[in-house]
Amino acid sequence: MQLKESIESVREQFRADSDPFPTDTQSVESLRVKYMGRKGLVAGLFAGMKNIEDKDRPLAGQLLNELKQELSKAFEANTQGDEESSAEDNVDYSLPGLTFPIGHVHPLQQTMDEIKSIFMDVGFSVAYGPEVDDDFHNFTALNFPPEHPARDMQDTFFIDPETVLRTHTSNVQIHLMEDQDPPLRHIVPGRVYRNEAISFKSYCLFHQVEGIYVDKHVSFADQKGILEYFVKRMFGSNTKMRFRPSFFPFTEPSAEVDIWSEKRDQWLEILGCGMVDPEVFKSVNVDPNIWHGFAFGMGVERICMLKYGIDDIRHFYQGDMRFLEQF
Ligand code: DAH
Repeated sequence: MQLKESIESVREQFRADSDPFPTDTQSVESLRVKYMGRKGLVAGLFAGMKNIEDKDRPLAGQLLNELKQELSKAFEANTQGDEESSAEDNVDYSLPGLTFPIGHVHPLQQTMDEIKSIFMDVGFSVAYGPEVDDDFHNFTALNFPPEHPARDMQDTFFIDPETVLRTHTSNVQIHLMEDQDPPLRHIVPGRVYRNEAISFKSYCLFHQVEGIYVDKHVSFADQKGILEYFVKRMFGSNTKMRFRPSFFPFTEPSAEVDIWSEKRDQWLEILGCGMVDPEVFKSVNVDPNIWHGFAFGMGVERICMLKYGIDDIRHFYQGDMRFLEQF
């Protein structure tokens, strides 16, 4: 039978071609195509089956299948361990999955969010205002005399003689009262800028939350109640606090709030506050004989540092994951 010889010759040819068995994928592939491909030698032999006499056909089929199996086995044996053919066998299903690094909220933003939610719970709404503002809103309307040291080039970043990067969020008190008639009750979170030497305790930019509450019968007692509520929620209900007389051009009387630190055995200032000065009301055409209000302002970095025992303000701005991942 002629086919039988052809089968033998293909077998011999393959044995020669595959000794040694190629190691690079490309040569393995061309070997596979040559013998096992759709138009390969084995397929050619199968095609020859149609010329076989009926009586010889079962034997021919058997021999052909044997050849095909021998070749398949050779390919299988020699490509085991290759990435392609064995990827499935090498999967270790007990390995933990890949985890994606998940970002989280910056400690300053967390602190800001906490301050916001405390005041929103007692009826304050959140407002925002410009970081680049004119001298009027940042200083004049807040009753800063023209020669006040806060206007000095050393503290304030001037864009031009009339325009500044706001030094505090108090400028938004003025915008709010210009834009809407009292009563009003807002807190104002935002960035402020000061031209100060950078150190562990001061940075050229930081964040404040301003508060302003104007109505007909707002008193200093209301101010004390609200701020005590804030302090106890922020720092814990056992926190000892005090109001200490102070001065700000835009409040009269003015005070600063301190909290007692057991750890440091000292009072620590956390915010400034006071009753809105009648001069401020006049600068925005609000009648100080009808309307009264209190205002306060706090540094978010400072609150966050006190709350978590952070000792250097620069940590907030360095983006060091070892610091940030602690929060
Ligand atoms: N603007 C003040 C500062 O930057 C903080 C402040 C004090 C704001 C008293 C107020 C206030 O609204 O009443 O230091």
